[in-house]
Amino acid sequence: MFPSSTKAAWWLATFFSVFVTGEMPIQAEMEPEFLQALENHTVTQGRDVHFTCVVNHLSNYRVAWIKSDSKAILAIHTNMVALNPRLSVTYNNHNTWKLHVSNVQANDSGTYMCQVNTDPMKSQMGYLSVVIPPDIVDTVSEESTAQEGGSIRLTCSATGEPPPTVLWRRDHNRPIVFRHDGGRERKVVDSYKGESLELSHVQRTDMGAYYCIASNGIPPTVSRRYHVEVHFIPQVKVTNQLVGAPLGSDVELQCYIEASPKAMNSWYREDGKSLVSDKLLENPKLRILDSVVNEYSRWMNLTIKSLAPGDYGTYVCASVNALGKMESQVSLHKIELNMNGFGAEEPMVSGAAWQRARNLPSARARPAASHAHQYFLTQHLPPQLYALLLTVLRYVNTI
Ligand SMILES: *[C@@H]1O[C@H](CO)[C@@H](O)[C@H](O)[C@H]1NC(C)=O
Ligand SMILES: *[C@@H]1O[C@H](CO)[C@@H](O)[C@H](O)[C@H]1NC(C)=O
Ligand SMILES: *[C@@H]1O[C@H](CO)[C@@H](O)[C@H](O)[C@H]1NC(C)=O
Repeated sequence: MFPSSTKAAWWLATFFSVFVTGEMPIQAEMEPEFLQALENHTVTQGRDVHFTCVVNHLSNYRVAWIKSDSKAILAIHTNMVALNPRLSVTYNNHNTWKLHVSNVQANDSGTYMCQVNTDPMKSQMGYLSVVIPPDIVDTVSEESTAQEGGSIRLTCSATGEPPPTVLWRRDHNRPIVFRHDGGRERKVVDSYKGESLELSHVQRTDMGAYYCIASNGIPPTVSRRYHVEVHFIPQVKVTNQLVGAPLGSDVELQCYIEASPKAMNSWYREDGKSLVSDKLLENPKLRILDSVVNEYSRWMNLTIKSLAPGDYGTYVCASVNALGKMESQVSLHKIELNMNGFGAEEPMVSGAAWQRARNLPSARARPAASHAHQYFLTQHLPPQLYALLLTVLRYVNTI
């Protein structure tokens, strides 16, 4: 509490000051002033945001909101000028005005100004930055199928703010292979940056899922899966072209097939006149095991149980798809088991083929000398030479 004498002195001073200078004392009419800076906001599209403008000593002046870049007056006091239902202004009946922007859109970004109509006017500015998570634009689905040696181009257009980066990857972290110069040059990468992925001289190993991943730091990151398909004539390879097995044993003929698009795979028998039997079907004697290796390769192993004399001969593993047909042959021949060092319980090796011995017949009377050579030689000769030898031996046997 001031003593009343001091109060009287103040009034006196005021009176004198007005009298002398002709101006009102400062306390009675202070200029409006901002109490804090207008904020800067970074907002995800669709969210709400507000700017806060705090003004003291406003007296008869008004607070207005202006979009600086377009110079559009948005609001004066709490009266909306802009015809934008997403904008509103609130006032706390004291010194605080808030400009609310609901469901923020990309075109709301820019500089906002809180202005007081003094002369000269007083203002402060804040920046609204609108960010948009990435999105992958639906484009016409691109051709992602080619024949081996052809080209494939995948494109992925992404939108977002800031503009997203597009990265390509393969599933299982398999490498992306770029081939140039007629396929002679290869560049192998884990990922590739760019909206368009161009694969030329494609090989079957390029087949599979590719992902385009768009990111701009604003979650969520989005991705799209593409499926690259490479077509080629089937390739068929039997593990062994010559397989020897004793009567009564089980033998497995192994066939490895690569094909795309999907192929019809089967085993056939071929008789002496090159006529092909019907497709072999599973039955108590035959078992066909089909095992997938990858998208375009598989094993198709034929097991013939308890070999009978009529089971020897030529077997054909065949694969046919839209691009063509390929086959590979196995010649299954009989071997005798009563030779030195080849016990009935031991698996036989013939050109790297293996068989499982089972229910072996009792030792034969006739010692098959030629077969003894086969046993020995098959472990050392390449299959081609062995085939030749076998043909000669057969010829010798028939005369
Ligand atoms: C807003 O951003 C501008 C320019 O980037 C900067 O000068 C200003 O200080 C920022 N305001 C606040 C409150 O951070
Ligand atoms: C801003 O964008 C919204 C939504 O896209 C639209 O409705 C509005 O008309 C746009 N406003 C201006 C001033 O362009
Ligand atoms: C067929 O044989 C191959 C080669 O030995 C083997 O890897 C594959 O697992 C076999 N498939 C089946 C179904 O037995």
